[in-house]
Amino acid sequence: MEARKSITKTFGILTAGGDCPGLNAAIRGVCRPAYDRYDMTIIGIANGYRGLIDETVRVLKPVDFQGILTRGGTILGASREKPFKSSSGDDEISGDKVKAIKETYRRLSLDCLVVLGGNGTNTTGYLLAQEGLNVIGLPKTIDNDIVGTDRTFGFHSALSIGTEAIDRLHSTAESHNRVMVIELMGHKAGWLALYAGVAGGGDVILIPEIPYDIKAIGEHLVSRVKSGKTFSIVVVAEGALSRAEAKMDKKDRKKYRNETVAPSIGYRVAREIEAETGMVTRATVLGYMQRGGIPSASDRVLATSLGTAAADLLARGEYGRMAALSGNDISSVDLGVPAGKVKTVPRDHYMIDTAVSVGTCMGE
Ligand code: F6P
Repeated sequence: MEARKSITKTFGILTAGGDCPGLNAAIRGVCRPAYDRYDMTIIGIANGYRGLIDETVRVLKPVDFQGILTRGGTILGASREKPFKSSSGDDEISGDKVKAIKETYRRLSLDCLVVLGGNGTNTTGYLLAQEGLNVIGLPKTIDNDIVGTDRTFGFHSALSIGTEAIDRLHSTAESHNRVMVIELMGHKAGWLALYAGVAGGGDVILIPEIPYDIKAIGEHLVSRVKSGKTFSIVVVAEGALSRAEAKMDKKDRKKYRNETVAPSIGYRVAREIEAETGMVTRATVLGYMQRGGIPSASDRVLATSLGTAAADLLARGEYGRMAALSGNDISSVDLGVPAGKVKTVPRDHYMIDTAVSVGTCMGE
């Protein structure tokens, strides 16, 4: 079969930020058509932006992206390297790293860089585009918090894992007449806790967007006991915070959190519930279980579709875009749309009303 015309001849591909199920499906989604249909040369970059800085790269051939659709993690490796931040984490530009990235890009004769990642990764992609590089982004994260796409891949898999964990906690909570707190990931946005909480029938769901009142939670749990319910499930997002914390400035909140949260917010909420109600309460932190393992069917489909859309953007030379899900369609948005933003759960989102309608307390 004769190759179709493509503006991009050679591109680099990297995965950055925390991994998630579906990354390999997306890599395959980009690389298969790029190689088979458009005859592009593909350079795999190891460990996110770090591999661009120290030039850890290899040419990818079909053998590299065959049989990876269902595999968890990322065959390219990932890191949280943020080249535009100084080593102290300040926002000041680390000129050396950006310079190194630009030099690697030129030395490898890349026409474009495809970056698979979350908010940080796509923001870095946008900043590199401002520096003159051609960049195409893909939205991945279990947090589902990227502006410009209706869903990110990774979210659905993590949602299934979180829901199964809540289901499993139900039987042990019921056997022991306990309150079970389960902490899910999501430090800035509560999508995962909200959806898993609704899917698993959580009695209380706490998300960063709705600062919680421990008195309201206590009243809800006590009223459940009075109505004959002998156990309760409390779903807590990693970034959940109390009303008092919400009122603090950033520095005071950080200090207060450091003093009270150990080992993590789920445990603090469990202690607060025990103190407030006297009920026996246990905490479970699901942690990295949510990011590991095979992608769900839904994530495989989304990651593959976004990947093939990115290959088409490469072929058309439509750079500076992020492939995105819009309704039931795959489209793309300017990389400036997600850059520097976090998609949090709006207060008037229908899922909050859904949760409250079925008797769930949202901590207020
Ligand atoms: O990928 C995003 C995320 O899952 C967040 O919800 C969580 O705060 C973070 O990753 C933790 O990841 P790491 O420990 O790899 O930085």
